[in-house]
Amino acid sequence: MSDPLFDLAGRVAVLTGGMGQLGAELAVALAGRGMRVAILDLETEPRETAAALRTGLEDGTIRVHRCDVTDRGAVEAALALVEVDWGVPDLLVNAAAIDSPPDAPASEVGPFEDVPLDSLERVVHVNVVGTVVPCQVIGGAMARAGRGSIVNVGSVYGLLSPDQGLYDFRREAGDAFFKPVAYSISKSALLNLTRYLATYWGRRGVRVNTLTPHGIENAQPAAFVEAFAARSPLGRLMDVSEAVGAVVFLASDASSYVTGANLVVDGGWSAW
Ligand SMILES: NC(=O)c1ccc[n+]([C@@H]2O[C@H](COP(=O)([O-])OP(=O)(O)OC[C@H]3O[C@@H](n4cnc5c(N)ncnc54)[C@H](O)[C@@H]3O)[C@@H](O)[C@H]2O)c1
Repeated sequence: MSDPLFDLAGRVAVLTGGMGQLGAELAVALAGRGMRVAILDLETEPRETAAALRTGLEDGTIRVHRCDVTDRGAVEAALALVEVDWGVPDLLVNAAAIDSPPDAPASEVGPFEDVPLDSLERVVHVNVVGTVVPCQVIGGAMARAGRGSIVNVGSVYGLLSPDQGLYDFRREAGDAFFKPVAYSISKSALLNLTRYLATYWGRRGVRVNTLTPHGIENAQPAAFVEAFAARSPLGRLMDVSEAVGAVVFLASDASSYVTGANLVVDGGWSAW
């Protein structure tokens, strides 16, 4: 028997970055709870590991719209298509983001003093503007409808500084690697975007919260996994499925009095 507190059946979700690791997991989980899910992403082809997402795309419970989330016109066009068939969304999850990839050029992941500003601006643009724009367009539609929930996906690196010790193994291997500042400052910005919008839309029925995950397991190098486990109170990385409960909570009526909050799902990382 479904619990009405957490019941999402018949509601509509928009999920940016839904073709990524976390997004695909959330898309399938929300569709499995009876939501219709529209993904906005630059990618439209499911990754090899995302078999359940492929099934959802085939049976039509999940749709993907090719869309750059920093492009207001593209987000408006995607919303118009969603509204025609499904109506004004009930949930917006902003998960689209970029980080410096492991194979980023040395200049982008080198010492802070030398980080090139164009790479910093690229990350901040996608992660911040690419969250603001869907909030403007889709959050705006929610406010006009008088209801909705927005979940901005942050990161522990937006709450705390990265522990550069986690990356010692790279420096020991001869790379001049430091976790770059761009990702951290972009994710910090989301904490206050959330608070700003929670107060801005509070009386119009739109709740806005941040979800702060940390360290999702994704075939990282063994030295990283070991260093992470040693620092983590739970002693391990997070399985991607462990983010689902928090999003279901923030999407559902179970969180009807929760807005402007930051739900930290970090295995206790920020507890010490
Ligand atoms: N993986 C982790 O350990 C971790 C930890 C903390 C927070 N997060 C956050 O969780 C979210 C999802 O992370 P992930 O690991 O699934 O990342 P991912 O790289 O697997 O997925 C990100 C998705 O965003 C899409 N995207 C990027 N730029 C876009 C744009 N301009 N327009 C539309 N789509 C765009 C990509 O195509 C991709 O599908 C991100 O916000 C990330 O910062 C991840």
